[in-house]
Amino acid sequence: KIMVVDKFLPKKYTEKVTRGKVQHRAPSNIALVKYWGKKDFQLPANPSLSFTLTNSYTDTSVEFLPRTDFNASFQIDFYFEENPKEAFLTKIETFFNRMRLYMPFLRDYHFVVRSHNSFPHSSGIASSASAMAALAVCLMKIEKLFCPEMTDEFFYEKASFLARLGSGSACRSIIGSVVVWGEHPEIPNSSDLYGVPFGMTHEVFHRYQDTILLIDKGQKQISSTDGHDLMNNHPYANQRFVQATENISKLNTILRVGALDDFVKLIESEALTLHSMMMTSNPYFVLMRPNTLATIEQIWNFRRQTQIPVGFTLDAGANIHLLYPYQYKSEVQLLIESNLKNFCDNQQIIEDEVPLESANFYPKF
Ligand code: PMV
Repeated sequence: KIMVVDKFLPKKYTEKVTRGKVQHRAPSNIALVKYWGKKDFQLPANPSLSFTLTNSYTDTSVEFLPRTDFNASFQIDFYFEENPKEAFLTKIETFFNRMRLYMPFLRDYHFVVRSHNSFPHSSGIASSASAMAALAVCLMKIEKLFCPEMTDEFFYEKASFLARLGSGSACRSIIGSVVVWGEHPEIPNSSDLYGVPFGMTHEVFHRYQDTILLIDKGQKQISSTDGHDLMNNHPYANQRFVQATENISKLNTILRVGALDDFVKLIESEALTLHSMMMTSNPYFVLMRPNTLATIEQIWNFRRQTQIPVGFTLDAGANIHLLYPYQYKSEVQLLIESNLKNFCDNQQIIEDEVPLESANFYPKF
């Protein structure tokens, strides 16, 4: 079932361009209020809010040339880390199919797509958000060549709208250091169709630290698509969706006033709720590993002893995102080095942080 959003149908292309190349770097993001459950097609059952990351990103370039092969729907060559990758190509074709109504030029060119991740592919870090976002922005850069009059606002909204069709969370990797996706009465301009920047946070949240503790780099036992689907007919789903909306309201205040203790409680509750939903679905599944829980205990001990507001969140996996203010970086680094690293696969971690919010609402790429 396809819902057509007129606003994002293409405007008349005024320029003819036969070939060219564009590129974009899109960041990964970590949700604090989680998106888990969809309605209709790629629309969120509840609003979500994420922190954008800095060091975890995907670099993508797209070259477009006159099309030579008309056998399939699209002509795409895809290289991941310089090697052809069949599994990803299939995903890109699905993505192109979902976008083609909004970007008719996808049928008219031969595309050569090259993609690189800054983080190890097998790290268990979800890469679909940054990958789909980078590709969506590249395609918007091409569309802008065809209609140079396009406004920045339209560019960003449509890029996020398209990224969402590739992977829901990808729509939160377009602009903004803190991003909300999903309609919420207290977030101006929020929409189920695309992510919007949250705007300025209190200074305690500037350059907020996220150290990703790679607890288990194994493949996920369940895809996020299947996980979302299990929220249909889930006994606690409706209450969960209500709670997520309330948590965005609370977080809205927390982020603006700088209430760190409330922040920690809220994000940890969200993470554990996400995993509770997984454990109570039918079929049930558990993505945390013994070392996930062992690490959580260490975090709680440290917080009790030091009163430092360090907390965690979890993605759809076993890894821990350790979140803490920039101000406490050295104390927390000591904890990580002397203790938490021992719970990680090969002692591996990724040091990341939230970028400073741009003063310019629509920064130029
Ligand atoms: O974007 P998807 O369909 O891979 O789903 C992402 C789900 C979570 O990462 C668990 C939560 C979120 O909001 O990012």
